[in-house]
Amino acid sequence: MAARAIAGSNIALAKYWGKSDVRLNLPAVPSISMTLDTLTTETVVEFGSVRKDRVTINGKRATPKEKARVVELLERVRAKANIREAATVVSRNNFPTAAGLASSASGFAALAAASLAAAGVDATTKRVSRFARQSSASAARSVFGGFAELPAGMRGDSRLCAKPLFGPSHWKVALVVAVTAKGPKKVGSTVGMERSRKTSPLYAAWLEKAPGLARKVRSGLRNRDLSKLGAAMEQSTTLFHSCAMSALPPIYYWQPPTLAVLHAVSQLREAGVEVYATMDAGPHVKALCLEQEVRRVARRLKKVEGVLEVLVARPGSGLLIDEP
Ligand code: DP6
Repeated sequence: MAARAIAGSNIALAKYWGKSDVRLNLPAVPSISMTLDTLTTETVVEFGSVRKDRVTINGKRATPKEKARVVELLERVRAKANIREAATVVSRNNFPTAAGLASSASGFAALAAASLAAAGVDATTKRVSRFARQSSASAARSVFGGFAELPAGMRGDSRLCAKPLFGPSHWKVALVVAVTAKGPKKVGSTVGMERSRKTSPLYAAWLEKAPGLARKVRSGLRNRDLSKLGAAMEQSTTLFHSCAMSALPPIYYWQPPTLAVLHAVSQLREAGVEVYATMDAGPHVKALCLEQEVRRVARRLKKVEGVLEVLVARPGSGLLIDEP
């Protein structure tokens, strides 16, 4: 009763921010992402080897908070498989988690796949995506390689899952990630989006605009039109960050180097390089460009004061599952 899964993290090009159903963890808006090749999580789950669930993340025992989220998913898998055995979960990211880069997406996708397979449940992509989505909605998209979409969820729609849009070879683009701070973020996305929904006067505008921005991102992707996709992606980012900043109390995910990188991206564009920025619930900036511009973009972003490290990720493959 053991299985191993590897999933790539993903970065949203059209952002998910806000829930339509908190209990079922359904997103209020559609989101579209690119699965990353270089930032992956490998998770092994074995049922029946211990008397109580045991969770190890990056070689360390999980904190009570981390463990609670893992156990919640294991409980859903046990209910589905009709088993009661406890599990050992060993999970490892191949990227520095200290940098606070999105690890929950690859983490919950790999955990959902490995635990379903280990419990003897058919780990179809739809089912894995649905199980992962309930833990962390962005994780639903990491099940697929290339580019994937998670539609908005109508209240009560417990079966919502992501769907693949285009495979990894669809387009030679890359994300150049400028790491601007160490350590985990202060306000997690779940808390940040709930506070935005409840208190930001801009949240209504976000709900109104997000579906149109996702449509533009989707059509920009389909036609490999970087300027169309990039403009929509940047507005999706600034609008959701504006919701966070105008919440009560306000949430500032940006750090001083964040703004400096955003200016560097604008300057590159003025100099004729097609590059667009996006950010998540943290201070790092991810710059999307064509493969042939990666070196120039990376060189420029490395020079920005306060940038600690620059990573490059390309469209990655979907989930890998094996049962030893
Ligand atoms: C800004 O998927 O981490 O990265 O469903 O509450 O776990 P929960 O939130 P999560 O939110 C991700 C938000 C984002 C944008 C995105 O990835 O779409």
